[in-house]
Amino acid sequence: MTNVLPDRTIDQDWYPKPIPEGIEWGDGCYFETTQIFRFYRSRHKPGVVIGSHSSCYSGCSFSIGKEGKCTIGDYTLLNGALIMAEELIEIGNYCIISWNVGIADSDFHPIDPVLRHQDAMALAPFAEGRPPRPPIRTAPVRIKDNVWIGMGAIILKGVTIGENSVVAAGAIVTKDVPPNVVVAGNPAQIVKQLA
Ligand SMILES: CC(C)(COP(=O)(O)OP(=O)(O)OC[C@H]1O[C@@H](n2cnc3c(N)ncnc32)[C@H](O)[C@@H]1OP(=O)(O)O)[C@@H](O)C(=O)NCCC(=O)NCCS
Repeated sequence: MTNVLPDRTIDQDWYPKPIPEGIEWGDGCYFETTQIFRFYRSRHKPGVVIGSHSSCYSGCSFSIGKEGKCTIGDYTLLNGALIMAEELIEIGNYCIISWNVGIADSDFHPIDPVLRHQDAMALAPFAEGRPPRPPIRTAPVRIKDNVWIGMGAIILKGVTIGENSVVAAGAIVTKDVPPNVVVAGNPAQIVKQLA
């Protein structure tokens, strides 16, 4: 069972497009609108795999680049997550991801001023002779089972969040989080041990 129609659109959805090819989901999944996939550009087939009985509400956005992949487990709820994958973002089973959470496996632009100037030129609309984009660093993000990420938190490239851990509202996670802890703040630090 799912609320997606056979043509991959959603009944009574205000956004008219179907869920793009390359996105797979399991039995019992719920999507509030197909608009959450408007930035999906992965060349992988599949580029996004969502397990069973998971839900993605309208605040979500799957911004998946050409080389990007994302996997989401079973019974996971994404209320309003911005998932920005240029390589790999893995989210486990029984996770709860709140409003305005950002998860990114890349910085998307170089730090080096010369390369960043080139990148701005490469991205300029209607510009003549645009240079190629410079190489962009990526590092997978892994969110293990039963993790809860509070509203407005940001998870940056290369981070693994261990099983059962909680990321407090507004935290900015720049380093790995062990299992069974609560982290909070910027940069996120352990504020509580859960087991
Ligand atoms: C993570 C959370 C659930 C932890 O709650 P808790 O176990 O009651 O935590 P406490 O209030 O005991 O806080 C423990 C410590 O962390 C600090 N802390 C808690 N949340 C914090 C936050 N979001 N940012 C910074 N510090 C925080 C507290 O000030 C406290 O510090 P202290 O020990 O120096 O006094 C809660 O803080 C939170 O972020 N709730 C929002 C959840 C959310 O986004 N829900 C939306 C629907 S999914």
